[in-house]
Amino acid sequence: MTAPLNAPDYVKHEGLKKWVADIAALTQPDHIHWADGTQEEYDRLCAEMVKAGTLIKLNEAKRPNSYLAFSDPSDVARVEDRTYICSEKKEDAGPTNNWEEPAKMRETLNGLFKGCMKGRTMYVIPFSMGPLGSPIAHIGVEISDSAYVVVNMRTMTRMGKAVHDVLGTDGEFVPCVHTVGAPLEAGQQDAKWPCNPTVKYIVHYPETREIWSYGSGYGGNALLGKKCFALRIASTMARDQGWLAEHMLILGVESPEGEKSYVAAAFPSACGKTNFAMLIPPKTLDGWKITTIGDDIAWIKPRVDADGVTRFYAINPEAGFFGVAPGTSEKTNFNALATLKENIIFTNVALTDDGDVWWEGLTKQAPDHLIDWQGNDWTPEDGKAGKKAAHANSRFTAPAGQCPSVDAAWEDPAGVPISAFIFGGRRATTVPLVYQAFNWNYGVYMAATLGSETTAAAFGQQGVVRRDPFAMLPFCGYHMGDYFNHWLKMGKTVDATPKIFCVNWFRMNEKGEFMWPGFGDNMRVLKWIVQRCKGTVAAKETVLGWMPKFEDIDWTGLEINKDEFEALTTIDADAWKSELAGHKEWFDKMGEKMPRELVLKRELFEMGIFKDAA
Ligand code: GTP
Ligand code: SPV
Ligand code: MN
Repeated sequence: MTAPLNAPDYVKHEGLKKWVADIAALTQPDHIHWADGTQEEYDRLCAEMVKAGTLIKLNEAKRPNSYLAFSDPSDVARVEDRTYICSEKKEDAGPTNNWEEPAKMRETLNGLFKGCMKGRTMYVIPFSMGPLGSPIAHIGVEISDSAYVVVNMRTMTRMGKAVHDVLGTDGEFVPCVHTVGAPLEAGQQDAKWPCNPTVKYIVHYPETREIWSYGSGYGGNALLGKKCFALRIASTMARDQGWLAEHMLILGVESPEGEKSYVAAAFPSACGKTNFAMLIPPKTLDGWKITTIGDDIAWIKPRVDADGVTRFYAINPEAGFFGVAPGTSEKTNFNALATLKENIIFTNVALTDDGDVWWEGLTKQAPDHLIDWQGNDWTPEDGKAGKKAAHANSRFTAPAGQCPSVDAAWEDPAGVPISAFIFGGRRATTVPLVYQAFNWNYGVYMAATLGSETTAAAFGQQGVVRRDPFAMLPFCGYHMGDYFNHWLKMGKTVDATPKIFCVNWFRMNEKGEFMWPGFGDNMRVLKWIVQRCKGTVAAKETVLGWMPKFEDIDWTGLEINKDEFEALTTIDADAWKSELAGHKEWFDKMGEKMPRELVLKRELFEMGIFKDAA
C-alpha cells in the first residue's frame, strides 16, 4: 500500500508531485510529509528526535534552542570511495571520479531503494541554493527519510514553502533522493542514528541532473544541497551554462579608507576556509575589517555592469555553516564561537555534565568528566591515552546570519564582485607564503596543480602530497581536464579578470613547528593581496610569480625578522624540481583532455627553475 501523497494546496508543480508519488511507490514510506520550513515544524521534529534518542537537548540556559547528535561510529564523514559520477560515457567522469554505467547503477539503486523507507516518514524538502529568486540561485527538492536531514537543511539552505512560489507550476529543480537505508519491520525498534553500516552509495547523474544517496545520514552524504548539488551537479551546470561552482569561501575586505573588495579562496577540506572567512585582523592593523559572505561554497556568474565591463559576481549558495568543531576556540576563531551561541545542531562533539558541549581545542583544559561522541564516560585520563572526546570530523550546523562578521550583502541576490581568487593547501615545505600569478592562465596552472598534505602525526615528518586541483578533487562532477579547460575559457569571458594568488600558511621548520603564526595574522598577506589588486603595493618578480619583498608587508605588531621572512618565502630549486615532476605525473593522469596550454606551461616553468638553479 502506498501512503497518501498529502501535497498541500500551495504545491502547484504537477511534475514535482508525480516525481514524489513515483519515489513513494518505490520506497514505500508509512507517511509523506511536505516540509514547510517553519519554526513550529523544526521544533516539533527536534522534539520527536529527542524522544527517539537521536538528539540530546542542550542546557537551555547555556545553549538555547540547541541539540547534540551522536552518529553511528560507521557514519562519521563523507565517503569518497562510495561517491559516483554516472555520466553516460566513462571519459566524461574522468580519472579522478568513480564511475559506473548509469543503466547499471539505476538497476542497483532500484533494488536498494525498493521498500527502503518502510516504517518511516518520507519528507519532501524544497530548498533554494542562494537567496530566493536570485539570478545566481538554483532550486532543489530533497526527498529524505531522515528528520535530522530536514532540520539541518532548514539551517543550511533557504528551505520551505516559499520555494514552491518560485517553482510555480513548471520551474526547474534538481531532484535529490536520500535514504538512510534502514527500513523498519512492523514493531521494530529504531536505532538512535539509523544508517546502513555496510552499504553506502552517493550517486550523481550529471546529464539528467539527479542525485541518489543511500545508507548514510552524515554531512555531505545526506545534506544533498551541499557537495552533491552545489558542487558536483552545479559544476556540470556551470560548465554548460558558462559560470563557476567552486569549493571556496567568500570574504569582504574593508580598508581604513572604507574601500571594499571581495575575494574568494579555495582551500581543501579542513585546511582553514571557515577560519579565513571569519578572520579578525590583528589590532595593530588599524582600521582593516573582514566580513563573511560564505565559508565553503561559491557560485560565481559573469555579469555585464552599467560601465560595460564584465565582472564575476559571487553568492554563497548556502544559508548556514557546517563547520569542523575541533580546533575552534575563542583564540583561533572568535567569530565562529560567537555564531554558536544558540540555534545550533552539533554532531559528534562531547557532552558536558551541565548539558553543554566540548571538543578538543575549545579550552586548554578539558572538563573533569564528559560523555564522548560514542556515548561513553570520558575523563582527561582518556585524553592522555589518546582517546578523543569529540570525533575529529565532528561538526556544527549554524545559521550564517548569526555570525558577528557576516557581510551586509551576504544575502544580496546580485552577489558581490570578486577581485581575487586565492588557492592554498597544507604544505610543510616547497610552497612559499604567498605569490601572485603573472596572468589568468598561469593562475589556472597553479590552481590545477594545488597540493595538500595529510598532517603527519609524527612531528617534522613530511606528509604525503595529494594533488587537490582547485580544492575540487572530490567535488568536480566531470572530467578534471575539461574542468581546467572551462577555467581557461572563463578567463576570456570577463573583462575584469580577478587576480590569482597562492598561499601556504603551513610551512614548517626542522622541528616540525609552523613557521607562520596564521589565523588573524593571515590579514597581513590578505592586505598585500588586495593592494596588489588595486596596484598600490610593490612586489618582486620570481620564477614562481610576483612575491612581496619584506618591506611590502605590513608587520606592525608582529615580531618577524628578514631571515624568518626569507625562510617563509624562499624558493628551493631542488624542491621545485621534484614538485614539477609531481605536476607532470598528475597531468599525465589526466590524459588526452589535459589542456595543452597547461602542459606547455609546465615545460616552460621547468626550464625557468633549472635556469634559476644553474
Ligand atoms: P571543510 O568544512 O571541511 O571544507 O573545512 P575548512 O576548510 O572550512 O576548515 P576549517 O576552517 O574548519 O579548518 C580546519 C583546521 O585548520 C583547524 O584545525 C584549524 O585550527 C586549522 N587552521 C585554520 N587556519 C589556520 C592557519 O592560519 N594556520 C594554521 N596553522 N592552522 C589553521
Ligand atoms: C568538506 O568535507 O569539505 C565539508 C564537509 O565541507 S561535508 O559537507 O561533509 O562534505
Ligand atoms: Mn568543504
